[in-house]
Order: sequence, then structure tokens, then C-alpha cells
Amino acid sequence: MQIGTPLSDAATRIMLLGSGELGKEVIISLQRLGVEVIAVDRYKNAPGHQVAHRSYSIDMTNAEALESLINLEKPHYIVPEIEAINTDLLAKIEKKNDLTIVPSIKAVQLTMNRQGIRKLASETLNLPTSPYAFAKSFKELKSVINSKIGLPCFIKPTMSSSGKGQSRIVEENEITKAWDHSKSGRVDQGEVIVEGQVDFDYEITLLTVRAKNKDGGVSTHFCEPIGHRQENGDYVESWQPQSMSEKALVKSKEVAKKITDALGGLGIFGVELFIKKDEVWFSEVSPRPHDTGMVTMATQKQSEFELHAKAILGLPVDVSLTKSGASAVIYGEYDADVIIYDEIEKVLAIDGVDIRIFGKPESFKKRRMGVILSTGKNVDEAKLKASEAKSLLNVKPK
Ligand SMILES: Nc1ncnc2c1ncn2[C@@H]1O[C@H](COP(=O)(O)OP(=O)(O)OP(=O)(O)O)[C@@H](O)[C@H]1O
Ligand SMILES: [Mg+2]
Repeated sequence: MQIGTPLSDAATRIMLLGSGELGKEVIISLQRLGVEVIAVDRYKNAPGHQVAHRSYSIDMTNAEALESLINLEKPHYIVPEIEAINTDLLAKIEKKNDLTIVPSIKAVQLTMNRQGIRKLASETLNLPTSPYAFAKSFKELKSVINSKIGLPCFIKPTMSSSGKGQSRIVEENEITKAWDHSKSGRVDQGEVIVEGQVDFDYEITLLTVRAKNKDGGVSTHFCEPIGHRQENGDYVESWQPQSMSEKALVKSKEVAKKITDALGGLGIFGVELFIKKDEVWFSEVSPRPHDTGMVTMATQKQSEFELHAKAILGLPVDVSLTKSGASAVIYGEYDADVIIYDEIEKVLAIDGVDIRIFGKPESFKKRRMGVILSTGKNVDEAKLKASEAKSLLNVKPK
């Protein structure tokens, strides 16, 4: 494996499609390896734009705009960071050019839509999942809830992330509101998935890395499980390692191995699983670093971002944990063009606490603007430190 000199005609060029907080950290890891990075997002001054060699803001669902940018920049690798991308164009372009889509075009196509990945997991691979059905109209939604899925259930746009457009309902009279809310998801495809509620004890993200081994084949590596807490479909805190029964951990790894083998390619995957005692359900998978995995910046020898960067390039990885830790999300708290993060010195005065501010140009009350990272002698101590640190931070409009 060789890497050229950035900004020369021998550069190794990687284009990120989506350059939010996760993309920003992937870019920093790639920059450390001397890769030339082109960051693309739908808005100007996205977090990843601020650390890349070049940056663009375009509509990535628009085939023409995407194609002309790829032709202009001629990347060797394309790394999608979000689901809302014109994947048909990527499939077409991959065939024509000497270009790698990370982790694989199949993974990107199947995970851009909840239908593709759910059917692969449940119907092709026979992995345990919640009961589910799809609906394209309010009438169909009501009918599948009444006849098949039951209550309580979750209703999610088939194309969305971070809980956008998602509802949990317990009564039939809430279906109308949930249907209307699903239209507010980021990419309205007009279709929803309805999932029966899984009554789990806890949920985890199992970061799973497919990386080249010494023999030139692919090996699968598992990070220690990450526990997390969600509010309205969005993660608010995570910790690592999540303690689990041996049986549940073995099953979790089996599920993660099966789904990532089926998706293929090289890179990190965030496999989301629900656990009850020794039982495991597959929920979904991201073919890229996972938001709950930001905790690995504090806990692992190589963060999920470094693991992704190295795996993509065909380099060896080390998934070992060095410390117990936690992360806590910093929200914008205000709808404002500019916000100020004050009293950071108090946050960082706590032993083992660190902060990442993503540098997003606009704030919304529930927009994720940064994250607190902490380590401790165990997960409980790390969680306490992260929440104390978060309460000390003063986020305010300018
Ligand atoms: N069928 C279900 N049973 C129980 N809880 C669920 C179910 N579906 C979703 N949840 C809860 O809602 C959370 C968010 O769901 P999901 O991961 O499908 O949404 P998302 O929009 O893809 O979120 P993200 O992009 O943050 O992963 C889950 O982590 C879980 O806490
Ligand atoms: Mg999820």
C-alpha cells in the first residue's frame, strides 16, 4: 500500500460525500496519513469543509452536479457519510472509472433506505429483527398496524437518520400525527417502515471493522460494545464498554459478522443491536463511523475514525480499548446563526474530560453542535463526569 504526496499529481485523493462531525474526524485521520481530501456537503462551511484540502457544497442527490464534481476532482476513493446521495450515479461511475466506493456500492445502496437493509437482514440472512411492514399511504399504515404489527410501534421514514421524522406511538389515534410527522424526515420518499417495539434491556452499537490482513484477505475485527441512550430517536449519551453476558456478546458478533460480510468492502460499520438477557435483535447498520462511536476518541487506541481511514486504505487496524469512557451530546439549545461556547475551562478542569466542538455555522435547539468525552476508572464514573462537564458548559447565542 502506498500513499502519494498531497496536492501533487501523485496524490491519493479521497472525496467525502457528507462532511458533518463524523466526516470531519475521518478527514483529520486521512490528513494525518497524507491523503488529499475533498469534502462535499449540502451547505457551506460544514464541519468537514473546515479541515479538508478543498470543499464544495452541492446537492448530492442531483446526479448531474455529483457527476461533474467527480469528473473535476477525479478521486481514487469516494466515502459516503450520509444516506441522501444519488447512489445510482455512484454505481454507474464506479464501473467506468478506477474508483473505489467505500465500503462497497452494495453497502451504500442497501443502507440508504431502511427497506433494503431490513429485507437483507431479515429475509435473506434470517437475522432476528422486530416485526416490520412498509406503508406508502396513511390508509396502508393504519391497516398494517392493525392487522400485523400492533402497538406500541415505531414509524420511520424509509430514508432518514438521527430520528428525523420518527415517532413511537401507543394508541391508534396517534397514527395520523405519526404519518404527518414522517413527512418531516430529511428525505421524504413518501414511504415509512413500521416496526413493532422490541422490549430490550439495553441497546448497543457494535463497531465492526473489515480490514485487510497479512495474507491479502479481509479480517473482521470487533470493538468493545458501546452502550447508548436515545431520546426521540437521537443519541444523547454513549459509553464503552457496555457489559454484556458472554452469550449475548457472542450472538452480537455473529449478527455483525453476517451483516457486514453481506455488505462487503473495507471500512468500519456501526451495527445497532437490541439486547434482552442473552437474546439479540438486529436493528440497523451504518457502513461508516457511528455517532455513538465518538466515545472511541477517548477510549480506544485507534478511534473509529482512524480505524475507518486505515481500513479503507488497506492498512492494518488495532481495535483495542485502552480506558472506560463516555460521551455526552452538546446541543445548540438555541435557534441562532451564531452561538458561543462559554466556560470551557470549567469543563476541561475535570480530570479525564475533553471536548469536541464541531464548528457548525448555524444552531438549532436540538442540533448536535459538539460532544463531551470522558474517561474514568469504570463506565459509571465516566458517565457521571461527562454529564457534570456538560452541565458546566454554557452554550449561548451571540
Ligand atoms: N423497533 C424498535 N423497538 C424498540 N426501540 C426502537 C425500535 N426502533 C427504534 N427504536 C429506538 O429508537 C432509536 C432510533 O431508531 P433508529 O436507529 O432506527 O433511528 P435512526 O433515525 O436511524 O437513528 P440514528 O441515525 O441515530 O441511528 C433506537 O436506537 C431505539 O432506541
Ligand atoms: Mg439508529
